[in-house]
Amino acid sequence: MTQTILNVENLSKTFSTKNSQIDVVRDVNFEVNRGEIFGFLGPNGAGKTTTMGMLTTQIRPTSGEIILAEKSIWGNLTDTRKRISIVTQHNNLDRGLTARENLLFHARYFNLPSDEAAKRADRFLDLMDLTERADDRVVNFSGGMAQRLKIARALMHDPDILFLDEPTTGLDPQSRVLLWEEIKKLNAQGTTIFLTTHYMEEPEQLCDRVAILHEGQLKALNTPEELKKLVPGQNVVSVRTGDVRDELLSEAKTLPEVEDATAEMGTLRFYMKDATPDLGELVKWLRSQDVNILSMNLHLSTLNDVFVHLTGKGLEQR
Ligand SMILES: Nc1ncnc2c1ncn2[C@@H]1O[C@H](COP(=O)(O)OP(=O)(O)O)[C@@H](O)[C@H]1O
Ligand SMILES: [Mg+2]
Repeated sequence: MTQTILNVENLSKTFSTKNSQIDVVRDVNFEVNRGEIFGFLGPNGAGKTTTMGMLTTQIRPTSGEIILAEKSIWGNLTDTRKRISIVTQHNNLDRGLTARENLLFHARYFNLPSDEAAKRADRFLDLMDLTERADDRVVNFSGGMAQRLKIARALMHDPDILFLDEPTTGLDPQSRVLLWEEIKKLNAQGTTIFLTTHYMEEPEQLCDRVAILHEGQLKALNTPEELKKLVPGQNVVSVRTGDVRDELLSEAKTLPEVEDATAEMGTLRFYMKDATPDLGELVKWLRSQDVNILSMNLHLSTLNDVFVHLTGKGLEQR
């Protein structure tokens, strides 16, 4: 039986500025199960950080309920804040202190006895592969190391659920893969994780379930595998071309191998029926239509394809 740790019901946030109001989060509903890695995927501006701000008591919702372990998060703020932990996008480490001192300082804030704090610091430095650098000052750390230390710090007060806001944004590809491994290890030890991201690879690599957020609304919520089944066909051929003419699309949809076709920002996407499509036929057809092929690529459908299918836009664009 799965056990729900977090229930979010009809959550909305409207920001009022001088001249206007913007609905940044619009009637969002979901549950997070204990022990899972739950992903919140959406492009910049989708409302991810605002949602996380509400889930972690930093932003008051305009309306809606947030229930953590069967209690409203607003009922007892001190208790809620002991049960959750958040790693924001800001580098809010104390750069003048060592890695270990950052952890011990956090532990004091939560009134942990010092022997317990020392034990936990050792454990989480080890878990995040920072033991060798434990007594170096943070000012000398790379972006990836700082990010791992922020996670170690967030674990010090033993939260029931850990919130990570775009944990790998700004990291180089190698550090990103390393951080994914650390997050998996952490989850394997029982920590429930809620993370936001605008990278499609991140939930594909990490998440048990993914919610897709577009302009403040949840468009879909499921496992990555099930989400990909929303995309017609199994393979997608993307063709980058200078111009995309509307009549091309309706014509493309009539091709025997093509299940569906879409166009966005100078890229044609053909959702192919066959698992091993005959690309020669497609190229022949593109030439016959005078399509100028700048590049062409065949891939298994990705979460970006799911996003395009649901919203008409790619994750990397606004
Ligand atoms: N305090 C605020 N006042 C007004 N608008 C805001 C505020 N915070 C965020 N927004 C707007 O809400 C939208 C969503 O922002 P955010 O939640 O940061 O998205 P994401 O994290 O998905 O990039 C953006 O258009 C942003 O400009
Ligand atoms: Mg954000």
